[in-house]
Amino acid sequence: MKLSTVSSALLGAAASAYAATSSTLPAISVVGNKFFNEDGSQFFIKGIAYQLSQADPLLDGDQCARDVALMKTLGANTIRVYHVDPTKDHTSCMDAFASAGIYTLIDLDTFDTYILDPTMAGPSWTGLQYARYADVMDAFADYTNVLGFFVGNEVISLLNQSLAAPYIKAAAHDMKAYRDSKKYRKFPIGYSAADIAELRPMLQDYLTCGGDDADIVDFFSLNSYEWCDPNTYVGSGYQNLEKQAADFPVPIFFSETGCNVPGPRLFADQASILGPDMDGDWSGAIIYEWIQEANDYGLITYGDGSASDDGPRSGTPTPMTPDFANLKSQWATLNPTGVSKSDYDSKTISTRSCPASTAGGWEVDGNVAIPTLGPAGLSSAANAPSGTFAMPTNQGNAATTTASKATGTGGTSPSGTASGTAAGSSESAKSSATSLKSLSVFNREFTAAGAALVGVMMVFTLWL
Ligand SMILES: *[C@@H]1O[C@H](CO)[C@@H](O)[C@H](O)[C@H]1NC(C)=O
Repeated sequence: MKLSTVSSALLGAAASAYAATSSTLPAISVVGNKFFNEDGSQFFIKGIAYQLSQADPLLDGDQCARDVALMKTLGANTIRVYHVDPTKDHTSCMDAFASAGIYTLIDLDTFDTYILDPTMAGPSWTGLQYARYADVMDAFADYTNVLGFFVGNEVISLLNQSLAAPYIKAAAHDMKAYRDSKKYRKFPIGYSAADIAELRPMLQDYLTCGGDDADIVDFFSLNSYEWCDPNTYVGSGYQNLEKQAADFPVPIFFSETGCNVPGPRLFADQASILGPDMDGDWSGAIIYEWIQEANDYGLITYGDGSASDDGPRSGTPTPMTPDFANLKSQWATLNPTGVSKSDYDSKTISTRSCPASTAGGWEVDGNVAIPTLGPAGLSSAANAPSGTFAMPTNQGNAATTTASKATGTGGTSPSGTASGTAAGSSESAKSSATSLKSLSVFNREFTAAGAALVGVMMVFTLWL
C-alpha cells in the first residue's frame, strides 16, 4: 500500500541525482584476472540474474527502483540481464541501480541473434548479428555501471557442439574491435558457459589461448549447479573447478549458480567462492534468479510465490522464504578483500595452450582460424534493419528452440563432475530447469507440466 510513496521517493532520488549516479558510479576495471574498483580495491561480484519477463527488464524505472531497494538489503552489487531492447531508453533503470552501487552485466545477443540454437544447422556469426550486437553495445556503452557484456550464453549446450567455439571467439574479437573503434571504455567482453564437464577445461582454455589479446574473451564465466546444499567444497566438484581455474588468464566467475534441489537453498557455496577456497582465482557469483517462476529459483515474488509462470511480473517484491534470508546472511559474512591493484602482479596469470581435439569430445583442433568479420562485417550489414528488435516470427519454433537448448543442457552438463555423487541425479533436473529461464520468460504457456513434452519434442527438433 505504500508502494507508490516508496517508489516515487526512490525515483525522485534517482532522478534528481541523475548526474551523480550512473554517470559517476566509478567504472570497474580489469587487470590480469581481477576486477578492480576505482580506489584500487578488488571487486567481487555478488550478483542476481534479473530478467522479469521476455521483455527488457531495464525500461520501467519505477519497477527497477522497487527492486533495487530490496536488492540492496540483500547485499547485491551486480545484476545480470539476458535480453534488452537497444531501441529503448534505459536511463531510469540504470540510474536506479547505479544509485545503489549496483553494476550490470548485459548479454549482447537478442532472441534472434544467437550464435547457435538447435534450429540452426550450425553456428553462425554474420554481419547481421554483428550489427545487432553493436546496437546493444551502443545503447549501454556510456553507463559507467556496465561491468561487462556477454557475447553468448550457453551457445555450446551439448557435448557435440564444441565446433561453435571459434564462432564465440570470432564474436568476441569483432565486438572488442568494435568497442575500440568507437573509443568506448574498455569494458570487458566475455562468455557465459554451460557447465559441460567434458568440454569445460578445453573451452575455457580455447577461449583464452593463442597469444593474441584481440582474439580472446575478456572474461570467462560458468553457469554451474554442481553444489546442491548440503554439500562441501570437495563433494560438490568446486575443488575441481578451482583447480582448472588456477591463475586463469582473465577474470573467471559464476554467471549462474544456486542449485535448488532438494532445498532449501543455504547458498553455502558462496563461502567457498567468496572465501579462501576460491577467492584467489574467482571473482564472485551471480545467483539464479530474482523473480520466482515455474522453475522455482526465485529469491522474490510479486505474487503469492507459487512456482508458476503465470504470476505477476512486476509489483512490490516480497522475499521468498527462506532463500532470500539465507543468501542475505551468507553474503553478510563474506567480504573478501583479495588484492589491491597496486600490490597485484598480473604477470602471475597463466597462459593457456589451445587444446588438441579428441575423438567424441572437444572437436576444435588447436588454434584454428576464427571466422571474424572485421569492420567489413559491419558494413555488410548496412542494409540490415539496424536498431530493430524482431522477435522470431514463429513462436512455436522459437519456444522449441529454447526448450531444446534447456533440455540439452540438462542432459549433458550433469554428466561430468556431478555424476556418481549424490547430487548427480538431481543435477539434470536442476540444470534443465535453470536454462528454462529464457524459455519461461519467452513462452508463458511453457509450464513445468510442459517440460516433459518439450523434452520429447527436443529429440525431433534438434538440428532441424
Ligand atoms: C548432438 O547430440 C544430441 C544429444 O545427444 C543429439 O540428439 C544430436 O543428434 C547430436 N547432433 C549431431 C549433429 O550429431
